[in-house]
Amino acid sequence: MITVLEDMRNGVREDGIRRAGEIVRQGGLVAFPTETVYGLGADALDAGASAKIYQAKGRPSDNPLIVHIADWEAIERITEDRPAQARLLADMFWPGPLTMILKKSAAVPYATTGGLDTVAVRMPDHPIALALIRAGGGYIAAPSANTSGRPSPTTAQHVAEDMDGVIDMIIDGGPVSIGLESTIVDLTEETPMILRPGYISQEMLRDVIGSVKMDRGLISEDSSVRPKAPGMKYRHYAPRAPLFIVEGDRQRVQEKINALTAAENKKGRMPGVIATDETSGSYAHAIVESIGSRADERSIARHLYAILREFDRREVSVIYSESFETPQMGPAIMNRLMKAAGHQVIYA
Ligand code: TXA
Ligand code: MG
Repeated sequence: MITVLEDMRNGVREDGIRRAGEIVRQGGLVAFPTETVYGLGADALDAGASAKIYQAKGRPSDNPLIVHIADWEAIERITEDRPAQARLLADMFWPGPLTMILKKSAAVPYATTGGLDTVAVRMPDHPIALALIRAGGGYIAAPSANTSGRPSPTTAQHVAEDMDGVIDMIIDGGPVSIGLESTIVDLTEETPMILRPGYISQEMLRDVIGSVKMDRGLISEDSSVRPKAPGMKYRHYAPRAPLFIVEGDRQRVQEKINALTAAENKKGRMPGVIATDETSGSYAHAIVESIGSRADERSIARHLYAILREFDRREVSVIYSESFETPQMGPAIMNRLMKAAGHQVIYA
């Protein structure tokens, strides 16, 4: 298959959106930018089109897709009922990086929800995404546009690395602004529950709807506690080299990482280090990448996946990372980093 690349880095182009919408309505696959990560889109109400997404990504079929909509009214057709909290959250955070789990209607095929009676719904905050959803019939199922298990794509180049020749079109809207997938909140529970942390924090949700829990499966060290979002149980976002998170007092972390990289060097191997603007000058014996500034947590979130891909390209032997417990997005950043590391932590 030839994958068409549509350049919309300078803004939405109507002719390209029309062609992309046509592909979606005929059951094809179009990758497109959102504010979080690039999505791999297909008609969410067409079981055959959803099935193609699983095939293109190599994704397990029990891992449900998020249905993307462009206006609030569209939610009625795909959900059984909408608790008051759904409207409150939509008014506050949509369009934006929040996904809500609700009871699905018969209009949504089980192929889209991985066999579940619930559906994940999100209204993305990106002009290209919103235009494509409207042109494609109003309901676009879209997981992150990476091969299953690889880091999520934050540029069209990342999408092309994984999907060139496999899907119909990639729309290039330039680098995304947030860089981590949306917060997922389950509204089918008595108390709403976060199934995946993201830019919208637990505190921000509580300010709007009161009590909100965090899925125990996300924080538990005990692997028998399964996370409730099927996708969260897979090792994910994984770079090719083993990744270790080094935790502790800042000075000790630097000393520990330098000792580890020196030992690696002695064996004739080149390790990678994930540092920050504040610390990247303090490391040796390694390929050092700054993920961003500790003073600007958005920069850390935005660069995480690109750095993991960059270390794949540089073929480092092992990666050591500082940890990033930042105020708003810390839980989301550390959730992705811990998964990429397969929970391997070294205490300095
Ligand atoms: O930011 C995002 O959410 C991006 C962009 C493209 O919108 N999409 C995304 O999709 O991250 P994906 O497929 O990579 O992750 C969807 C997650 C998975 O962990 C999946 O298991 C969970 O959402 N999920 C989807 N539907 C669900 C449901 N009905 N119940 C529980 N979890 C669900
Ligand atoms: Mg994903």
